[in-house]
Amino acid sequence: MAEMKQAPAGASVLVQTTTWLENRFPTAFDAYKVHMSEYYAPKNFNFWYFFGALSLLVLVIQIVTGIFLVMHYKPDAAKAFESVEYIMRDVPWGWLVRYMHSTGASAFFIVVYLHMFRGLIYGSYRKPRELVWLFGCAIFLCLMAEAFMGYLLPWGQMSYWGAQVIINLFAAIPFVGPDLSLLIRGDYVVGDATLNRFFSFHVIAVPLVLLGLVVAHLLALHDVGSNNPDGIEIKAKKDPKTGIPLDGIPFHPYYSVHDVLGVSVFLMVFTAIIFFAPEMGGYFLEANNFIPADPLKTPLHIAPVWYFTPFYSMLRAVNDEMVNVLAVIVALGGILAFLKAGLTGFWKFVPLVLAVVFAVLLKTFDAKFWGVVVMGGAVIILFALPWLDRSPVKSIRYRPGWNKVLYGVFVVIFAVLGYLGIKPPSVVGTYVSQAGTLFYFGFFLLMPWWSRLGEFKAVPDRVTFHAH
Ligand code: HEM
Repeated sequence: MAEMKQAPAGASVLVQTTTWLENRFPTAFDAYKVHMSEYYAPKNFNFWYFFGALSLLVLVIQIVTGIFLVMHYKPDAAKAFESVEYIMRDVPWGWLVRYMHSTGASAFFIVVYLHMFRGLIYGSYRKPRELVWLFGCAIFLCLMAEAFMGYLLPWGQMSYWGAQVIINLFAAIPFVGPDLSLLIRGDYVVGDATLNRFFSFHVIAVPLVLLGLVVAHLLALHDVGSNNPDGIEIKAKKDPKTGIPLDGIPFHPYYSVHDVLGVSVFLMVFTAIIFFAPEMGGYFLEANNFIPADPLKTPLHIAPVWYFTPFYSMLRAVNDEMVNVLAVIVALGGILAFLKAGLTGFWKFVPLVLAVVFAVLLKTFDAKFWGVVVMGGAVIILFALPWLDRSPVKSIRYRPGWNKVLYGVFVVIFAVLGYLGIKPPSVVGTYVSQAGTLFYFGFFLLMPWWSRLGEFKAVPDRVTFHAH
């Protein structure tokens, strides 16, 4: 057993209690040092670095409000809708808890999208933080599953028909699809069995995985250390005596206090929405979802909540015409690789053969299936980002100026896809989402090429920091 520490004579009760605890639970004290008081974070963090802490805050809000909702909610197709109404009207403060949870769902995606965008512009996914990014992408997938299943629980018209549409998509997968969608639904139509399993996944299975992934995300980050807006590794320049990075400052108290600013601003906006616009004009809570689910009456327009709509647009963009365009792109890619990839002998023909096989597959299966592939692929491609980016520098600050324009266009196109996904399909809307889908995939798949182009600025040795 390690030697026991002694509190100095005449020490306060607080110091004595801390010493008592430290002797019995040193691991907790070591963890506090490693992750808080002796975790050296770069001193040049800007506002983009608030969103990790804010994601953590929203996670806690969702778990705590979720616990209280479960106390009154009934996962039963005959009672679910009215139990939510009961929470809203009769349970003391029930309306607040419910609105915190429903607004929290949208807030989660807002802060996580901003958090991911920060990673994108500062190259935070690059060596040595690939795993931090991969855990993040897995978190994003879980978050989507969590939100999708939670949305069924109020058992409104949109919950019901939204789930019906999305689960039916799985049926488009060749061979296994119909059985897979039956397995997810637990019935031939969305019903009580679906509600029960979605409830079970929403309240326990997915949150457990999510929590595990968040812990892994943070442990992996603290092992390698945080990136920063300059994309410079602060561990490369350490004080020879102390071994502490010269540009590092302890997370606690510097960033713990700094994050209070971000949390305060966030809570102001969050509470303003909850108190004054909880439905947010139908974007956070849709009008159709205040009508109880009716399996015999399909709403005229079914759309997912805003955070899914960019991906939903990509799904709808894939029709027979788009499949033809994809087949042409695959064929051109195969020919280009044949001519330019510098392969020799047998290998020279591999891209051509692959392109032919892929083009045939494209025309063999239904466009709906390829829509599902494109929608899934749009998320899965994020996992590959650390290996797609070949730029000699990490941060956008030192990349060629046009990169900023490119990232700006990316954001605009993502937002346009989101907007189109909310609207009913139209001829022009379909063409725009097809162009947007091609841009989205082009941005990532051509990154190994474009990320190396242009004039890069010299990256300084030390981080740039102006005290404020
Ligand atoms: C529940 C969701 C999430 C939570 C609670 C969370 C939490 C955090 C926290 C607290 C940090 C450190 C503070 C900061 O850098 O902002 C961080 C860093 C990071 N996160 Fe997340 N995160 C989440 C989701 C994601 C997602 C979806 C991605 C990307 C797909 C991601 C990628 C990253 C990266 C790359 C870093 C390192 C950033 C840097 O050092 O520059 N995270 N995360």
